Order: sequence, then C-alpha cells, then structure tokens
Amino acid sequence: MIKIAILGAGRIGQVHALNVARHKDATLAAVADPILTNAQALTASWGGIAMSDPLEAINHPDIDAVVIGTPTHTHIDLMLAASRAGKAVLCEKPVDLDLEKARAAEKALGDAAKRVMLGFNRRFDPGFSEIHRRVQQGDIGDLHQVIITSRDPGFAPMGYLQTSGGIFRDMVIHDFDLARWLLGEEPVEIFATGSRLLEPALEALGDYDTVMVQMRTASGKQCQINCSRQAVYGYDQRMEVFGSGGMLLNDNLRETSVRHYRGEETEARGPLLNFFMERYADAYRLEMEAFIDAIKTGSPLPTTVHDGCQALKLADAAQRSADSHAAVTIE
Ligand SMILES: NC(=O)c1ccc[n+]([C@@H]2O[C@H](COP(=O)([O-])OP(=O)(O)OC[C@H]3O[C@@H](n4cnc5c(N)ncnc54)[C@H](O)[C@@H]3O)[C@@H](O)[C@H]2O)c1
Repeated sequence: MIKIAILGAGRIGQVHALNVARHKDATLAAVADPILTNAQALTASWGGIAMSDPLEAINHPDIDAVVIGTPTHTHIDLMLAASRAGKAVLCEKPVDLDLEKARAAEKALGDAAKRVMLGFNRRFDPGFSEIHRRVQQGDIGDLHQVIITSRDPGFAPMGYLQTSGGIFRDMVIHDFDLARWLLGEEPVEIFATGSRLLEPALEALGDYDTVMVQMRTASGKQCQINCSRQAVYGYDQRMEVFGSGGMLLNDNLRETSVRHYRGEETEARGPLLNFFMERYADAYRLEMEAFIDAIKTGSPLPTTVHDGCQALKLADAAQRSADSHAAVTIE
C-alpha cells in the first residue's frame, strides 16, 4: 500500500482525499492543515492522522507520497521540502503565480523533478483523453485547429480574485496545458483579448472576466480558447479539434442523457454538471490513479513541473498581449 498525506483540506484537498481513500493500492495516512478542524473533518471520513503542520506529514517516515492542495503561494516550499524528504509529490496547479520562481523551483528540484506531478487534471478527463488518443492515432489526419471553451458557472468572490493571479494564470492555465498537450508543439505566437463585461472593478486588479486567446505553433497549428468567469447556464467545458481528415468534438456532461419534448420546447435537457468537483470527478480520480500507478511501477509521471512552467509562460504572454492589445511572440 502507498501511504499518502494530503496537505490542505480545502475544496481540492477533499477531492484528493476521497480518491486516495477509495484506491485499492493506497491509504490516506495523514491530512495536514493549519486549521486542524479542516484536517479532522477529512480524517473522520477517510481515516489517517490529522495534523496542523504540513512539515510533520512531509517528514513522517511512514509516508511515501504527498498531495499538495494548499494555497498557491505555498506550493513551491512544500514541493521542495517533500522532495528533500524523498517523497513523491502531486502538486496542484499552478506551480506559482511567478514564472521566474516556478522555473527556479524546477531547477532546484533537479533530478527529483521526475517525482513531482502537476495537477493538470483535465488531461485525465475521459472525453479529453480520448480526443488526445485519437489525434495521436491519426483519426483526424493532420491536426490543424484546437478550440477550447471554458466558462465558469458563477462569478468568483472578489476576495478570491484579489489573490488569484488573474484569469489567465488562475483559470485559463488549465486550457493552456490542454492546448500544449493536444497540439504536441509549443505555441510561438499568442494574441489575447480581455474585457470586463461582468465586473468593471477588475480594472483595479489588472484582471479581466471575459477573454479570448489565439495561439499558433511553429508548424502553423492554431488554437483558440474562449473563457468567461460566468456562464448563467452552468459550467461550460467543451473541446473541438479539427484536422485534414475530420473533426472530434467533446460536449458538456449532464447527469442523464434524457431529452424532453413538449409544446413549448423540444430537446430540453437537464442542467450541465456544475463546477469542477462534479464535472471533473472522473478526471480527478483518474489523475490520482495515474499518480499512484507511476509510484508503484516507477514509470514517468504524466505531467511535470516543466508543464506547469510552460503553461504559466503562456498565461504571462496572454496577459501581456491583452494588456498591450498586441500579439506577443513567445521565445
Ligand atoms: N486542479 C483543479 O481543478 C483545482 C481546483 C481548485 C483548486 N485548485 C488549486 O488547489 C489549491 C487550493 O485551492 P482550494 O480551492 O482547495 O483552496 P481552499 O482555500 O479551499 O483550501 C486550502 C486549504 O489549505 C489550508 N492551508 C493553508 N496553508 C496551508 C499550509 N501551509 N499547509 C497545509 N494546509 C494549508 C487552508 O487552511 C485550507 O483548508 C490552489 O493552488 C488552487 O489553484 C486546483
């Protein structure tokens, strides 16, 4: 059994604790959170020792791996401490909000970076991973375009937005990672537009609530990402890839596939699975399975700190492009 500690018992820590506890080859050995009652709420449900100090979990001799689900500004220190203690790490996105700090962390990890996975859970979504597999096996010929729609259901609290790092680093970072993964090449040019159509007060933060991004790779592949902080009809997560031999499309998920026909409307369907904990429940479970599987077999981790740095680089470039109203070349 792989003994795993969860650091941070908030929204994402709860998802990871559940998936560790349910895995047949893993045990939830500890949960650490400075708010001890948060940790205790999880250990009461899923087992393990509740701790208030993440370093106690990291340095515990019985623990094989740690999952970092703490606020973003704590990721690097915890990742480096866990790595020094010889633990495998699954760290939530983003690595950090500062690209130079993220790159320095990658360098400081050195060879141990091989044992640190980044929480880009969307790669494990069954629909998106099928699209990736089918692009790889040539089902749409040569890939020409990737189109990603990523809209949150409800506007985040201003308190959250003040420390989020902005829509590109906080939210679109997932889509930048998906784009790199699907394109199979690094984008070399980016043009982003940003608007404040929902909340003018975001101007004081230098942030936007509605953005569109276009990117091009050196070979000419294109990607467009559409993102909004608020879609009144729910969590809108779609993807389309287009190539010389066809197209693959992944639509939104609903609780059932039943459609209602009546006098006033036809094809009426239930609401979209709302927000990340429901919509990406399978993705988080499969992400944890991939992490545990890689620890057991010694195979390479599917996502890395380098992926985290590259996605952050695109987020920084998008912010510069939106701020300057100009295309940005990515070195
Ligand atoms: N991959 C995803 O889809 C996804 C979704 C949500 C959040 N996240 C990321 O996960 C991280 C946490 O986000 P959240 O929404 O769960 O936050 P949250 O505020 O709900 O939870 C954070 C928890 O960490 C605890 N904490 C604070 N400092 C700590 C420390 N030094 N050691 C241990 N615990 C500490 C807090 O007390 C809190 O319980 C962020 O980096 C966020 O970007 C990723």
